[in-house]
Amino acid sequence: MVKILPINDDALDEAAAVLRAGGLVAFPTETVYGLGADATDSTAVARIFEAKKRPSFNPLICHFPTLHKAWERVAADPRAHRLASEFWPGALTMVLPMRPDSGLSPLVSAGLPTAAVRVPADPRAQALLARCMRPVAAPSANRSGAISPTTARHVADSLGDAVDLILDGGPCPVGVESTILDLTGAETVLLRPGGVPEEDLSACLGTPVTPTAATAKEREALKSPGLMRSHYAPNAAVRLNAAFPGDDEVYLAFGPDAPAGALNLSERGDLREAAANLFAHLHALDTADAATIAVAPIPETGLGRAINDRLRRAAAPRENAH
Ligand code: TXA
Ligand code: MG
Repeated sequence: MVKILPINDDALDEAAAVLRAGGLVAFPTETVYGLGADATDSTAVARIFEAKKRPSFNPLICHFPTLHKAWERVAADPRAHRLASEFWPGALTMVLPMRPDSGLSPLVSAGLPTAAVRVPADPRAQALLARCMRPVAAPSANRSGAISPTTARHVADSLGDAVDLILDGGPCPVGVESTILDLTGAETVLLRPGGVPEEDLSACLGTPVTPTAATAKEREALKSPGLMRSHYAPNAAVRLNAAFPGDDEVYLAFGPDAPAGALNLSERGDLREAAANLFAHLHALDTADAATIAVAPIPETGLGRAINDRLRRAAAPRENAH
């Protein structure tokens, strides 16, 4: 049985010691649970790929307790400083040029000269990162391609014994992963919509962010393999923009006009509440035995972009899933 501890000072000390010794710790962030390892230790990072059964060419996000710690490892430009002062700590990840002396394992960046960095807002995550005194590489704590975890139970069910320790901090308040921006070129490119809405980023920068050219060719080149089309896949099939469920379907509703009895992302039609519920509701419906999950239409604004992005991936053909 995997060890699950409620978070207190002793649990944080133990978790930091496990990380420093090259172990794997799953911990809550405000977005989703992360599967953490010491980002300077290649053997430890390799264990993440092994536990997730993730293709090793997929780079990982590095987590820091403060922005100063992040800037020791990557080179920030004025855009990065501006974004960090507005959105860190928080659900924004920035891809920046790695410093030559970054000390990060090449496995973290999958050999790229860049690294994805984030300062999470969850105070327990910050406490763990501060105690461990190492940058922590952490993808979402689930098997590669499966639904992301927003509770400690999701982590235990998906990864089990592959993790040394799970810190249980209750459900994650944001519920979708961080927004990823690529700042390595002249344009600021949105690699993944997420917890910080695109509109807020554009407002901060004073210029629109560039949507990623996620062509099939680029995905093959695996510049950002998180752009793989089929991802976040439940076992059941997923049908999008369904006004009503079919006879053999379970329904994931949104808004006040939903059919009675349906699991609702937000009865109030609140996108923030919907994001927080998204993965837990998908997990719940996926165990309901129905072959298909029908999903109500979700508005394509604010956090709705991140929700629709995850739902489209959940619904994508599975041939290339991993
Ligand atoms: O909210 C989150 O971001 C969560 C929590 C745990 O922090 N983490 C997370 O990590 O979602 P993960 O590994 O599931 O997603 C990382 C994404 C991948 O799509 C990867 O391709 C992209 O970040 N990425 C990482 N490093 C990159 C780099 N150097 N260049 C381009 N994309 C990168
Ligand atoms: Mg993930």
